[in-house]
Amino acid sequence: MNIALQTPPVSAKENPSSVGPEEGTPPNEFTKDVIAGLTAPQKTLPCKYLYDEAGSRIFEQICELEDYYLTRTEAEIFSSHLPDIAKELGTGVTLIEPGAGNCEKAEPLLAIMESPEAYIPIDISPEILLGARARFEASQPELLVRPVIGDFTQMDRWGDEEPGNRQVVFFPGSTIGNFTHQQAQNLLQHFAAQMAPGDGLLLGVDLVKDSVVLERAYHDDRHVTEAFNKNLLRRINRELGADFDLDAFSHRAFYHPLRQRVEMHLVSLKDQQVRVADLSIPFLEGESIHTENSHKYTLESLASLLNKAGFQQKHYWTDTNNHYVICYAEIF
Ligand code: TRP
Repeated sequence: MNIALQTPPVSAKENPSSVGPEEGTPPNEFTKDVIAGLTAPQKTLPCKYLYDEAGSRIFEQICELEDYYLTRTEAEIFSSHLPDIAKELGTGVTLIEPGAGNCEKAEPLLAIMESPEAYIPIDISPEILLGARARFEASQPELLVRPVIGDFTQMDRWGDEEPGNRQVVFFPGSTIGNFTHQQAQNLLQHFAAQMAPGDGLLLGVDLVKDSVVLERAYHDDRHVTEAFNKNLLRRINRELGADFDLDAFSHRAFYHPLRQRVEMHLVSLKDQQVRVADLSIPFLEGESIHTENSHKYTLESLASLLNKAGFQQKHYWTDTNNHYVICYAEIF
């Protein structure tokens, strides 16, 4: 196995917003984003900052929650249809996974794909990619694994691959749902710009469903999602010397049927002032910080998003409840 840990083709210096402070960006980038968000009329914080080390650990716990059906359902669809999915992807493919994390989802897929050319996981965390490398070394020693460290939303190119191999971009976990429709279209177009006609996209997407089921997934009664959301305030306290009182905010998650998305907020429980990097940020009782969106798609709205970005849906697989879809599309 050959592993080239690459730095991103666009360096953090050229593109300072590409990674958070823990990954080496000057701290003022995080400060700037936080201040811009907290002084906007609807206070907001960029969701990428939810994933520091503690946040990533809490997120793994979310994925194991009974109420959080997404991970389980996606895994069920994969295990029921893996040979079919692999056949659809074809032979000699380079599989690229933006935001791969621990690469656990790609492992069984690569094991069953016919002669994959290479696997390129992309993530901002080098540690997590190195951990994955060790696993692949043991389980699939013949596979060429070339991790790329960086923020996939900011990358012009994901490697210096010789053009010619068919590429398939693997984007599971309904991560596409954490972007607005316009951002999702831009992101898929951004992927498409690095691909050729006939190249593929394997996407996992959460579907519109009963709002009670949706809301429970983001407001579990063991308060793990709450801890995940509040960890962002803890991080701002720690890294920017702010003085958020975590008990003076509550986690709120609700489904917005018109926007077809679950929104996550942190709601101030009282009128208060919070000190953040030399600023005093006023909060009214009931005022919220919007921290995350999770958009839900229908099969139609998904097909339309794909078309707008230059992809044509080839095949999709759902679970028996139609809660979730794995979709394969190609550039036309
Ligand atoms: N993309 C997944 C989702 O929207 C995972 C996720 C992102 C998530 N942010 C989250 C899950 C916050 C729970 C809470 O569900």
